[in-house]
Amino acid sequence: MRYAYITLAILCIVLISLLGTRGSTFNKPPRQVFPDDIFPQMTRQARYLPQSASLFFADGRADRPVPEGAIARDTIINDDLLATGKLTNGDFLRGFPDAITIDARLLARGQDRFNIYCQPCHGALGDGNGITKHYGMGATSSYHDDRLRQMPEGELFNTITHGKNTMLSYADKLTPQDRWAVVAYLRALQRAAQGSINDVPAARKTDPGLQ
Ligand code: HEC
Repeated sequence: MRYAYITLAILCIVLISLLGTRGSTFNKPPRQVFPDDIFPQMTRQARYLPQSASLFFADGRADRPVPEGAIARDTIINDDLLATGKLTNGDFLRGFPDAITIDARLLARGQDRFNIYCQPCHGALGDGNGITKHYGMGATSSYHDDRLRQMPEGELFNTITHGKNTMLSYADKLTPQDRWAVVAYLRALQRAAQGSINDVPAARKTDPGLQ
């Protein structure tokens, strides 16, 4: 009987030491019974870090550009207005395509994408004072110029799609729906910059600091 207990205890220890670490995360590379240089396997291979240099490619970059003419699956849209922001006569759309519903969800999505893709240059307020300004990138447009306030939504959409002068295209990062969401948020920023005490509901007018 004593041996049965000892065997059971040993079995428990073996099982726990074999299975107990499953699911844990480790910082060190796994210990290998047969090291790669002796028995080459495919467990660990040479790789490039994002945005690193490469001697292999002629342009010296490890990141490869998207092949010319490649079309991402979700960029084919049968709704020209939604995809281009242009009417059939070539004019830019004022307002938003029917397929876009302006609601809090769209604005939240627009804010989220804006903060990732536009804020670094245009600033959180859209006044052109993003972090890149401190690193020498000047002349980023403020959205609070009259020209941009009057600009049709379709033209803003077109700028995100194709870029403008030194601003690159964001078509590969933002789907058309996301681009419209960013346009809606851009409008919200413009509206917020024009806010006055008259926009504050009567019940909040007595809040400290407001007059
Ligand atoms: C890397 C910096 C940078 C980022 C990121 C950036 N922009 Fe720009 N943007 C610029 C610069 C610089 C200009 C001024 C271009 C010019 O007219 O010379 C500009 C101009 C604009 C204009 C005005 C175009 C016009 O007709 O004058 C709009 C609208 C705009 N950006 C929207 C956006 C939106 C929306 C995003 C995010 C999806 C974005 N930008 C991201 C740098 C940037």
